[in-house]
Amino acid sequence: MKEIYLAGGCFWGAEHYFRNIDGVVDTEVGFANGDTPSPTYEQVYTDTTGYAETVRVIYNPDTLPLEELVRDFFCAIDPLSLNKQGEDEGTRYRTGVYYSDPADSASIRKVFDEVQALYAEPLAVELLPLKNFFTADGRHQDYLIKNPDGYCHLPLKIFRYPRLVSDLKHLLGDEPDFVARLSNAAALVKEKMGFFWTGFYLVGPANVAPGSHGHGTPSPDGKELILGPFQGPFACMRIGYGSGVCGTAWKEGKTIVVPDVDAFPGHIACSSASKSEIVVPLFKDGQVAGVLDIDSDELSTFDQIDAFWLEKLVAVL
Ligand code: SME
Repeated sequence: MKEIYLAGGCFWGAEHYFRNIDGVVDTEVGFANGDTPSPTYEQVYTDTTGYAETVRVIYNPDTLPLEELVRDFFCAIDPLSLNKQGEDEGTRYRTGVYYSDPADSASIRKVFDEVQALYAEPLAVELLPLKNFFTADGRHQDYLIKNPDGYCHLPLKIFRYPRLVSDLKHLLGDEPDFVARLSNAAALVKEKMGFFWTGFYLVGPANVAPGSHGHGTPSPDGKELILGPFQGPFACMRIGYGSGVCGTAWKEGKTIVVPDVDAFPGHIACSSASKSEIVVPLFKDGQVAGVLDIDSDELSTFDQIDAFWLEKLVAVL
């Protein structure tokens, strides 16, 4: 087992997130890299002690490489926000990754560089050796388990996704049949997340029969997206290359988040109840083999948290 210290804003929510991630063995909240010895929560709360609210994460590097854990950490923070996460403000809510093993710094740095490449502004996240760590008193350990309705700066869905991915791995096991895997994946996502429509479109031979009525035109090599296993209202069965959100995600080979489907040029409305959408490509041998399409009957349901975790979810398939 190994340990890493992650400061991701208020430690109540941060701990609740990390504990759900497969490969995390134990968590403990406390205060890292400050000045006065053995600080109390109340002292740290004054924001004069130099400490950051931090989660000590014990993990199994064989199942959860440190790089992956650090990527998971970045999913739960605003990396450009200095001393502020959600509505929590102060140096105690600064973000940082603090390592106790100097050998870890290179893999952490690799992820920092990856994330930095996504932004023009410098990251506001510290990457430092651990100077000190003091455990917070018992009231703060497992806070959101003890207080399920307690305050949290993170959205609820971020706690559900790690469980969802873990449940899916266990549910599918080593079942070799792709349709069986996709069918149960659609059912599990629907059951756990309650989205309006969850399903797959798979790249297959275009229907060239006279009068066939797909949306858009096939790819140059004669393929189109064909409706696969899904949960929700009936849907359009064929989507062309570059058509709608699904065909665009296929063509571009990347996840597309659509906060308002009416504002997406060429969106294909299978149901007028669908208001926002996310489409995540499924890759096989480096090629897009299909897409996961999720629709919501509310606007702006999906963001980078959904994109990050749904990309992990489709990798299980
Ligand atoms: N809206 C999708 C079509 C599929 S349905 O949402 C189920 C699109 O524009 O590609």
